[in-house]
Amino acid sequence: MSFFRPTVDTLRAYVPGRQPPLGAQMIKLNTNENPYPPSPKALEALRALDPDELRRYPHPLGDEFRSAAASVVGVDPSWVLAGNGSDDLLTILVRATAGPGRPVVYPTPTYVLYRTLADIQDAPVVEVPFTDDFALPVERLVDARGAVTFVANPNSPSGTATSPQRLGELAAALDGLLVVDEAYAAFADQDALALLDAHRNVVLLRTLSKSHALAGLRLGFAIAHPAVLDGLVKVKDSYNVDAVAARVGAAAILDTAHTARIVTRIQGNRTRLAAGLQRLGCRVWPSQANFVLVRPPGGDAAHVYRELEQRGILVRYFDEPALAEMLRITVGTRLEQDTLMETLESILPPPGQTGR
Ligand SMILES: Cc1ncc(COP(=O)(O)O)c(C=O)c1O
Repeated sequence: MSFFRPTVDTLRAYVPGRQPPLGAQMIKLNTNENPYPPSPKALEALRALDPDELRRYPHPLGDEFRSAAASVVGVDPSWVLAGNGSDDLLTILVRATAGPGRPVVYPTPTYVLYRTLADIQDAPVVEVPFTDDFALPVERLVDARGAVTFVANPNSPSGTATSPQRLGELAAALDGLLVVDEAYAAFADQDALALLDAHRNVVLLRTLSKSHALAGLRLGFAIAHPAVLDGLVKVKDSYNVDAVAARVGAAAILDTAHTARIVTRIQGNRTRLAAGLQRLGCRVWPSQANFVLVRPPGGDAAHVYRELEQRGILVRYFDEPALAEMLRITVGTRLEQDTLMETLESILPPPGQTGR
């Protein structure tokens, strides 16, 4: 006997990357966190929090954060909806749009949560493979006729990006919503903000987890036409952004100078990481995000993953056929990267000694 819906009984639940306890002697390059501290202004806001803010319910739309985010992005606050991380907004989007006969569509490989959310909602899923070089299969995505189509851009785990022009073509051809998940857009050359002017069906998702070093705070936001956000608000939890997140997140997002500094450092470290990995004989996909997709020489990624883990370095291995030979490695500090390189050198065969 089960207490649950059949869907839940058979659900392949999302498995988050491993989170060792704080203080564990590990180099953590597995969940694309920012290796640098959040804005000092955010920490100041946290310390200055009035206890009354905790006693009372927060604003249902996290208004303080919403206004701050809108001013930084350059839109009216009515175009912004805050969430408990962008995962919350993904849940809200699927809940509002998908269901039996209303498909969820996305290119693969990508963020695995899209599938889990569709499954929970009993919605059909259409997965359209990226081409080998991760070009977006626009025509096939259109043909799948999604009630909602997700494109992570830059994509995870590839780190590759599709141009806003191409995304515009997709938006124009779709009847349903196009959600451009821009969790990593701060690290990229371009974002898709301009699409909102021409396409009423586009929703952009941003998060403070990566570029703002606040994954633990749980704060993200959607940017879309107010008419679209009206529909989403109907199905969200009443208080999906807590008082602490709204206050600290507002201070963080307004500190654009701090964000620009740490993002620039990460972009520099990314170039250095990719070059180092290539020197060791790895194939590295061109990344616009704060991680790189890597094929170690010989392609035994599972082995390399385990060896790194034993030596205290966590990277991400996805146990699925399309990614079986690859690792996703978060861009860390230079010191973390030096340790990673030394460790990889001791694990990998010297370049030239594999059948690559
Ligand atoms: C593509 C993508 N979207 C969304 C998220 C979730 O971000 P958040 O921490 O805002 O929930 C992640 C996290 O890894 C991600 O990779």
